[in-house]
Amino acid sequence: MSVYETVQRRRTIRRFQPKRVPLITLRKIVDSARMGPSAMNLQPWEFIIVDSPELVRAIYANTQWAGYLPKEQGPPPPGKEPTAFIVVLRNVRFASKWTGHDIGAAVENMILVALEEGIGSCWIASVSRPTLRPILNIPDDLEIDSVLALGYPDEQPMAFDLDESVKYFRDAEGRLHVPKRTMDSVVSHNKFGQR
Ligand SMILES: Cc1cc2nc3c(=O)[nH]c(=O)nc-3n(C[C@H](O)[C@H](O)[C@H](O)COP(=O)(O)O)c2cc1C
Repeated sequence: MSVYETVQRRRTIRRFQPKRVPLITLRKIVDSARMGPSAMNLQPWEFIIVDSPELVRAIYANTQWAGYLPKEQGPPPPGKEPTAFIVVLRNVRFASKWTGHDIGAAVENMILVALEEGIGSCWIASVSRPTLRPILNIPDDLEIDSVLALGYPDEQPMAFDLDESVKYFRDAEGRLHVPKRTMDSVVSHNKFGQR
């Protein structure tokens, strides 16, 4: 699959198979994060790979899923939870005004390499940070940026051209549909507004 095809096919996954991701694969995913571009090459990131079932449950309990969907359609139902998390940390000692950009690029690298390995993901910023910090022994000079939920996919969301609303929805069969702004609505050629 080309990078273009991977990017087009990537969708956030919120239903997973009850099958663990090998640690070597999780390490490969993080390895792709640390190679990401970084302003001033500060690399203001650290990562915690979490695959212990007990800690995965603890993180899961402190995350919020799919705010646009009714409660029964959003978070993974029992048995379909993620089997691993990568906790993304901001190292305040190396912070700059571009830290958010750096982290964004690193996480997208992880999402794409995970997909190449057949692993689905949900990037989650809605995290109860004060609760998770002591559970994961995170020191004061690191902030929880977000977490990446991971596992083998058990759903196939699809994108469609956004018409009016940015809200994703599930159809009668439970399939997730994700609206995306069209090329014509986001791109100009040479000068703004020239299509
Ligand atoms: C920075 C960021 C934070 C996100 N936080 C959450 C979250 O807390 N919970 C969640 O279920 N999805 C979260 N998402 C996933 C988005 O809902 C998802 O990317 C969006 O609906 C588009 O769907 P797609 O990823 O399939 O293209 C987040 C995505 C990004 C980029």
